Amino acid sequence: RRTAQEALERLTVDVPDWPEKGVTFKDITPVLADHHAFSAIITALAAAGRDDHGNVVVDKVVGMEARGFILAAPVALALGIGFVPVRKAGKLPREAHAVSYSLEYGEAILEVHRDAIGAGERVLMVDDVLATGGTVEATRQLIEACGGVATGASVLMELSFLDPRAVTGALPISTLLTV
Ligand code: PRP
Ligand code: MG
Repeated sequence: RRTAQEALERLTVDVPDWPEKGVTFKDITPVLADHHAFSAIITALAAAGRDDHGNVVVDKVVGMEARGFILAAPVALALGIGFVPVRKAGKLPREAHAVSYSLEYGEAILEVHRDAIGAGERVLMVDDVLATGGTVEATRQLIEACGGVATGASVLMELSFLDPRAVTGALPISTLLTV
């Protein structure tokens, strides 16, 4: 976990005024491009799916399009369980649950296949950044619409100044870095 945090701090690049003036973008692509760093952050994110003895305590890992896919799929492989994509509206070919959530400007919709998560299955969400908390909260609602149990979320970075926990409430969220 220490190694993962160090790698994240060392390799993440702050991009000022992107995608718009006044916003500093956290670019993690250099972390992904470094095998040891990528491996360390995946192991650290996956820890949220294990108990103190190292036993896997979740049944599925959900990743949110698009950056969440990069992290959630290897976390699922590391835990030895299945991966489920939560996608932006209109991308999934079969019957899906949909939840709308607010963005900085306006609304967006996230969807999941209705049969992707079984009744009572325990689900861990994985994403890169927790900002306003809207993405995690919408995904939690999708997991519950399927009859699953959202056990928590594991993210690389939390932007605490946006107060995401006010939106995500009691859901356990583990983060490697808080800024
Ligand atoms: C970014 C980021 C998180 C989300 C966090 O995704 O990857 O998923 O914002 O913000 P929130 O906590 O305010 O919901 P974005 O929707 O920009 O899309 P992307 O992953 O496809 O780049
Ligand atoms: Mg995203």
